[in-house]
Amino acid sequence: MKKRILTGDRPTGKLHIGHYFGSLKKRVEMQNSGDYEMYILIADVQALTDNFNNPEKVRNNVRELMMDYLSCGIDPKKTTIYIQSMIPETAELTVYYSNLVTIARLQRNPTVKTEIAQKKDLFGESVTYGFLGYPVSQAADITTFQGELVPAGEDQEPLIEQCREIVRKFNSIYGEVFKEPQIVLSEGKRIKGLDGNEKMGKSLGNAIYLSDSEEEITKKVMSAVTDPNRIKKDDLGNPDVCMVYYYHKLFSVNDEVQNICKECKAGERGCVACKKQLTKNIIEYLRPIKEKRAYYEEHPEIVDEILKEGTEKARIVAKDTMKKVKKAMKLDYFD
Ligand code: TRP
Ligand code: SF4
Repeated sequence: MKKRILTGDRPTGKLHIGHYFGSLKKRVEMQNSGDYEMYILIADVQALTDNFNNPEKVRNNVRELMMDYLSCGIDPKKTTIYIQSMIPETAELTVYYSNLVTIARLQRNPTVKTEIAQKKDLFGESVTYGFLGYPVSQAADITTFQGELVPAGEDQEPLIEQCREIVRKFNSIYGEVFKEPQIVLSEGKRIKGLDGNEKMGKSLGNAIYLSDSEEEITKKVMSAVTDPNRIKKDDLGNPDVCMVYYYHKLFSVNDEVQNICKECKAGERGCVACKKQLTKNIIEYLRPIKEKRAYYEEHPEIVDEILKEGTEKARIVAKDTMKKVKKAMKLDYFD
C-alpha cells in the first residue's frame, strides 16, 4: 500500500519562490515518484482563524493558491487537492478531539505561542478560542485522511507533535483507529529575501512571486542587496555576502555560477550586468510555471472544476474515516 501524504497551505496570499524551493518542489517530486498517495488541502478554515474579519481575502486566495499549485506541477490526476471547509467531517472530528487536549497544552505549543505574539494587532491581549485551537483542527485535517506523512517546514513540527499526542489519546480511549503521522521536513531550506533578510515574506516586501510579471522581477532584482563594499566595477567583491549571487546559485547553471564567483572576486564583473543576467535566468526558470498560470488565469472554470472534483473525491475518504470514528466512539446510532 502506498503511504498517504497529507499537506497543505493557508490561502492567505500568492506563493513566492521561497514557497517553491521550500515545499512545492518537494511535493511535486513526491507526487511524481509514484510512491505515495497525496492529498493537498487548501486550509481556508485555518486561514479564517486569523482572518475571520476578512473573508474576501481568504476566498480570493483559494483560487490563487490553486493556480500556483497547478502551475508548479501539482497534477490533479495524481494528487487530490481539496478545500478544507468543504469537508465537514474534519470540523466534526475537531470537536471530538477538543476533549482530548488541554488549554494549557495548546498555550504551550511553540508555534501557536509565536504566532499569537506576532498577531497582537488582531488579538490584543486575548486570543480567540478558534486560533488557540487550530492545532486541534490541523490534527483533524491530517487524520481525517489517515495521513501518515506530512511534508512541511520546521515551524510545523510542534503541530504534528500535538497531532501525534491527540492520536495516542484517542486510540487509548476509543480503540486503535488512527496512525501517528510523521513530519517529512522539507530539505529545501528557507530562502532568504532580496534584502538579505533570513525570511522571504509578503509583509517584508522582499519576495519574488511565482505570478510576478517580467517587469516586477526586473525591478526586484535590481533592488537586491549586493556586496556593500563594492562601489566600482574593479573593486574586489565577496559574492558570499551578495544576494544576487545567492539567487544565481538557485537559478543559474553551475558553470555560470562558478564564473560569476571568480569574476566578482577578481573585480572583473559589474553588479548591474550581474543583476541583468540573474533577471534573465529567473524569468527563464519561471517561464513554464508562468505560462501554465496564464492558462489557468484565463480559464477559471477549469480551476474550479478541478477543485470541485478533488473535494468530492476527498469527501468520500473523509466519510469513511468518520464512520470508523463514530463506531469507535459509540456514536453510530442508526447504523
Ligand atoms: N498550518 C499550515 C500552514 O501554516 C497549513 C495546514 C493546515 C496544514 N492543515 C494542515 C499543513 C495539515 C499540513 C497538514 O500553512
Ligand atoms: Fe554580487 Fe554579482 Fe556584484 Fe559580485 S558582481 S557583488 S556577485 S552582483
